[in-house]
Amino acid sequence: MSLPQAAPDARLDRIEVVVGDITDLPDDLGVDTVVNAANEPLAGGAGVDGAIHRAAGHDELLGYNRTHHPEGCKTGLVKVSPAFGLEAKGIKHILHTVGPVWSGQRDTGVPGAPGDDTAKLGYTLEDTLLASCYTNVLKAAEQLESEAVAIPAVSTGVYGFPKPRAAKIALGHVLGHFQQRPAPAFPKRVVFVCFSDADAEVYRQAIDTRDAWMFTQRRG
Ligand code: APR
Repeated sequence: MSLPQAAPDARLDRIEVVVGDITDLPDDLGVDTVVNAANEPLAGGAGVDGAIHRAAGHDELLGYNRTHHPEGCKTGLVKVSPAFGLEAKGIKHILHTVGPVWSGQRDTGVPGAPGDDTAKLGYTLEDTLLASCYTNVLKAAEQLESEAVAIPAVSTGVYGFPKPRAAKIALGHVLGHFQQRPAPAFPKRVVFVCFSDADAEVYRQAIDTRDAWMFTQRRG
């Protein structure tokens, strides 16, 4: 059975899906803000976090976060830092967000509320925390008047969040943000940065089938 193909949607003109290293994007993407998949202490780590700390300059970035964000960053929130060494790539700010660790525990102790991938989209604690990452990233990018914000697949690496589920949450919230803030509101564009062709295909599938899973009926 072929899934319903979505109708043309102007909001998609503001979304790109690319494959690459978020710290080394082509200049013609015009990205001026990158999102880091951080941890609560903002201490740096592996994956995206490691790459961004290396490219920005770990000592400088860690020093800044220790001074300006001594409290760290709670899961679902965002803390802003300068780009330091990433300024050479035209980046002005790094938005450090901490995604949830996917538990995947079916039994949450709440009858009828599974905590794994059988739960309805948006109905696990981790879904709501990941959604909070995206809404706070978009709010920060709007306040910073970002031209284009590059966002990795937060929580889908070390934190184990199922990629298709995470892609729908990411896309649903970006489309919702653009619905409320038509062009040329900020951020003008969102670039989803995937680390493999397979991961990019997950985002493209989510875009192509959005009418089948998006929870808010699109107006107009
Ligand atoms: N550029 C773009 N995407 C990347 C890069 C990169 N340089 N490196 C990894 N990825 C992808 C991964 O393949 C995955 O799809 O980013 C996604 C997020 O993976 P992680 O970086 O592992 O982030 P996350 O799952 O949110 O786990 C965060 O890992 O590195 C630690 O300190 C970090 O504790 C935190 C945890």
